[in-house]
Amino acid sequence: MNILPVLKDRIGFGADYNPEQWSPEVWREDVRLMREAGVSVVTLGIFSWASVEPAPGSYDFGWLDEVMDLLGEAGIAVSLATGTASPPAWLSRLHPGTLPVNRDGVRLSPGSRQHYCPSSPVYREAAAGLAQRMGERYGTHPALALWHVGNEYGCHVQECYCDVSADDFRRWLRERHGDLDGLNAAWSTTFWSQRVTDWAEVLPPRTAPTLRNPAQELDYRRFSSDALLACYRAERSVLRELTPDVPVTTNIMGMWEPVADYASWAPDFDLVALDLYPEPKDPAAAVDAAFFHDQMRSLGGGRPYLMMETATSAISYRPPNRPKRPGLNRLWSHQAVARGADAVMYFQWRASLGGAEKFHSAVVSHGGPHDRIFREAAALGAELGGLDGVAGTRVPAEVAVVFDHANWWALELDARPAELRVPERVRAHYAPLWHENVTVDVVPPAADLSSYKLVIVPNLYLCDDAAAEGLRRYVEDGGHLLMSFFSGIADACDRIRPGGHPGAFRDLLGLRVEEFWPLSDGERLGLSTGGGADLWADHIVPEGAAVLAAYTDGPLAGLPAVTRHAYGRGSATYLGTRPGEHVMRDLVRDPLRLAGVEPVLPGLPAGVEAVRRGGHVFLLNHNDHPVRAAGAELAPLDVAVVALGEAE
Ligand code: GAL
Repeated sequence: MNILPVLKDRIGFGADYNPEQWSPEVWREDVRLMREAGVSVVTLGIFSWASVEPAPGSYDFGWLDEVMDLLGEAGIAVSLATGTASPPAWLSRLHPGTLPVNRDGVRLSPGSRQHYCPSSPVYREAAAGLAQRMGERYGTHPALALWHVGNEYGCHVQECYCDVSADDFRRWLRERHGDLDGLNAAWSTTFWSQRVTDWAEVLPPRTAPTLRNPAQELDYRRFSSDALLACYRAERSVLRELTPDVPVTTNIMGMWEPVADYASWAPDFDLVALDLYPEPKDPAAAVDAAFFHDQMRSLGGGRPYLMMETATSAISYRPPNRPKRPGLNRLWSHQAVARGADAVMYFQWRASLGGAEKFHSAVVSHGGPHDRIFREAAALGAELGGLDGVAGTRVPAEVAVVFDHANWWALELDARPAELRVPERVRAHYAPLWHENVTVDVVPPAADLSSYKLVIVPNLYLCDDAAAEGLRRYVEDGGHLLMSFFSGIADACDRIRPGGHPGAFRDLLGLRVEEFWPLSDGERLGLSTGGGADLWADHIVPEGAAVLAAYTDGPLAGLPAVTRHAYGRGSATYLGTRPGEHVMRDLVRDPLRLAGVEPVLPGLPAGVEAVRRGGHVFLLNHNDHPVRAAGAELAPLDVAVVALGEAE
């Protein structure tokens, strides 16, 4: 059964539908074409606030009633947006305080989208009011299948620095740290005379002469994530009250931007919805995309999710707007389904004639439904709609990659020993697993790890005590761990754990890091196992760990670079540096072997991705040449969905 029950046992197929941009004649044509293309679900009216509530408290539902009816009559399920992502011009005019303020104190203007301060009570009330009206109007409409609250929270405005936000921040800090003594301790304010003695002195991290207090920065990211979540929750609770049986979600972004702490949001989603825009020009796009799919599935506790937005072809804001070559949309859409998506949907159904995104691809292009994009989409709609026994099934994983937003925020703050970028760090650990065709879950540090054979921890600089203890116990109980440098250094307030690095994991890893030796651009150290490493080198002093590789040159020549510690019934492998890509693949293969993890299928040609979902194996040929894989002949960019047991 599909995670969206109305879709039954079919994989959903559809798009964002923005009928307010079109005439009623076009709506009829749209619904006809949707049926032709196999569309089973649309997400409707995301930016319709100004059309539904053209003046404060005055509503125009006529057009939306008609569209809902048209879709319902055609058997197309509606994921109905509350429409609150882009406030109407009148809200900004009447309540300029709802507009967000940036770090430099500049109040942003309307004229784009998402121009609201997440802490603004006026915005929250107006948005919840609209959600209430939508709920009252459409709560019992037969086409309604899902509520889509807001849109991509934090996509453009992740933080607001206005006075209202400052007050909200103080309230949040009181909850987290109690009194001012607690706050001063958490923020290490004895440094640079930053002690505060009155809550009025506590501010957002606005533009300042030089480096700001890192704990203040970190708390502001946490607070801002919670402020956005509060906006979502305000609307969700209105809808839950009115329509307890209709699931509620918002679409979150699969991209390398640390927008919000989605792991803390996940319990508020009835189902997870992903927006994903892999770059057609990027040869490694499929690897990143796979990571985001795994992350979404994991956010939902392994349940299927919806890919609520992706592009049929070109993406408008990344010039040159290169189209997807024939077959690529089919391949990447199947990748989503392989990794747990129960629906594939596009932004947007019909390409806009005006506005900022008119050069973004759609299912129906400017020229109408006679082009390759529509033909390919319609063929795909039929193909996905015909996939039997896939919707609702799960994707098994024996390996977990630990991923944490607080760590991401903290690791990328200023004045670290080297500029480490979380996207690069996560990719470096994830890509070898992808190439090995080992499926992984993406879990927060404090997750229950007991079901995994191997846990991979890329650069977990910031780690609270509970997570450190969870990882220790996991290995003690027989788990295998692979951890990279600069992990376990700071506590949740970004304070160093004293007594020798890495404070949280010294016993577990059986070593001490005496000093960090970040490397200059272009500087490269040899490794005794062959190959080289760059970016960073730990000066490791083993305290029980065995040396797997040593540096062969440079300031740390002869000292350990990679170690392994037998701990309890398990093992902890440690990488004190950044090995080159091929060495990294070997270094990941080794603990995979140790932990007894097998690929989905052995011996596949390079560039073929295999994922098991329920009773099927998906084979995805990312190559521009044909391959034979597991008994299937795959043309370039081709896909095969094979019943388990039939794959050789
Ligand atoms: C998403 C957004 C859509 C559209 C799309 C393409 O971020 O939710 O409304 O803008 O990107 O750029």
